[in-house]
Amino acid sequence: MKFTERNSQMKQIVLIGFMGAGKTTVGKELAKKLQLPLIDTDSLIEERLDKSIPEIFEQYGEEYFREMEAQVLESLKNVPGIIATGGGIVLKESTRRQLIKFNTVVYLTVDFDNLVNRIKKDEENQRPLFLNHSEQEFFEIYQSRIPLYESVATTVIENTAKKVASLADEIIKKVGV
Ligand code: S3P
Repeated sequence: MKFTERNSQMKQIVLIGFMGAGKTTVGKELAKKLQLPLIDTDSLIEERLDKSIPEIFEQYGEEYFREMEAQVLESLKNVPGIIATGGGIVLKESTRRQLIKFNTVVYLTVDFDNLVNRIKKDEENQRPLFLNHSEQEFFEIYQSRIPLYESVATTVIENTAKKVASLADEIIKKVGV
């Protein structure tokens, strides 16, 4: 298979988007509705290393985490399921090349102010990139990633103010899984 061809046989939806865009939340709902497993790349990395995301960033650095993301994504290419990714999965060129092989890659968009509010409220998930940057720097990270998400997405769905169940229905309708 050439790397530009997407695998159309697999029952798989990959969810991408910035931190706080709702990938895991809607991923759970999609998994339930479609009776597919929910696979969360952050959780897989945490399990593999037996450490939390903040510990991994602190002890091994961001680049190591990105390498783990690439490895985990590669291991999922033939696994049916709803794949919720970390917001930085698009940063490496090699990971973007992996992503364009997946048949369905849904990019969830949310405006910046709402993302920041959600991230601040989410005490369960500590995001090192949010904690270690000023809001202006974080905005620059957000802006710099938009073209990267767009370059690998097959579908773009806005998710600023939607209820999770209707968002999941919208995704299913749009991607036709
Ligand atoms: C990151 C997003 C996080 C997690 C890590 C880095 C990022 O996942 O992978 O903190 O660089 O955008 P969520 O998008 O689920 O918050």
